Amino acid sequence: MLNRRKFLLNSTLAATGVALQSKVFATPFREEKIAGNYPIVISTWDFGVAANQAAWKVLSSGGRALDAVEAGARIPEADPNNHSVGAAGYPDRDGHVTLDACIMDENGNCGGVAGMEYIDHPISVARLVMEKTPHVLLVGDGATQFAVANGFKKKQLLNAESEKAWKEWLKTSKYQPEMNIENKHFTPVPNKMPGNQYNHDTIGMLALDAAGNISGACTTSGMAFKLHGRVGDSPIIGAGLFVDNEVGGATSTGVGEEVIRNVGSFLVVELMRQGYKPEDACREAVNRIVKKKPELAKTLQVGFLAINKKGEYGAYALQKGFSYAVCNAEKQDLIIKGKSIF
Ligand code: GLY
Repeated sequence: MLNRRKFLLNSTLAATGVALQSKVFATPFREEKIAGNYPIVISTWDFGVAANQAAWKVLSSGGRALDAVEAGARIPEADPNNHSVGAAGYPDRDGHVTLDACIMDENGNCGGVAGMEYIDHPISVARLVMEKTPHVLLVGDGATQFAVANGFKKKQLLNAESEKAWKEWLKTSKYQPEMNIENKHFTPVPNKMPGNQYNHDTIGMLALDAAGNISGACTTSGMAFKLHGRVGDSPIIGAGLFVDNEVGGATSTGVGEEVIRNVGSFLVVELMRQGYKPEDACREAVNRIVKKKPELAKTLQVGFLAINKKGEYGAYALQKGFSYAVCNAEKQDLIIKGKSIF
């Protein structure tokens, strides 16, 4: 925490128009900048590459991590071939496309929307919930109303491909989340990437800006063909996303119910506070899930991704097949295969 003397000094400098050398003075959470590898942005799955590149435009020009993660998350939200995030997401079992998202900044501010219909950029609505309301989470019709009142256009989101998949699913109506099912389609980024370009799920994104401040975003259409009204981990602060600017940030992907039950992202950040490296913290969070449900754990996917204040990052998943994308000054399209328990 800044002490009172420093705070007064900073206020005086700002008031007299003296240019501050470092944005560190702007945040009440940090006394000094920790040396490390940043700016940097990381996000879940291969399709995080395209999202990271949008975030990088903000970060590389000195922008704020919050602006970076919002810009990044909007990329998969707008991808017509992405059936697990945003407008083209697969609907619930009644044919409604309902979207979940949340966002969190370096000051502990956060906002989210859950089960929101007809609005194609839930991450931007989540940010408005954070910035324009005294609340954290708006759901269903209330979220849509709020979005419309703030200038968003209502649209029918169910596209032809998603509708076809839903109608096919209706033939059996078997509800069994397939591991990494969300990973079948998305628009690959034009440049060449290693790894499986068709692997994706929820996007969880964490950015550390040039000032050393962390923000995160998480957005999804949730489980394909879920029960109407089902909300996963992605819009829930502490489950799908958590940021503590003193420590780091974490986000999750996969079967949200297990993440909620274990308050997964909060757990990862708290483990980092205790000294765990990001990958070790993610592995421990995954271990908790396995320990509680050893049999079930073999049939579902959950992955965590984390970054600490130095810009060190890591991930861990229950099953093979999880990947994450990393973007910094050295490389803008790095994909790393996540380690896994099984
Ligand atoms: N992790 C996304 C969901 O369960 O909805």
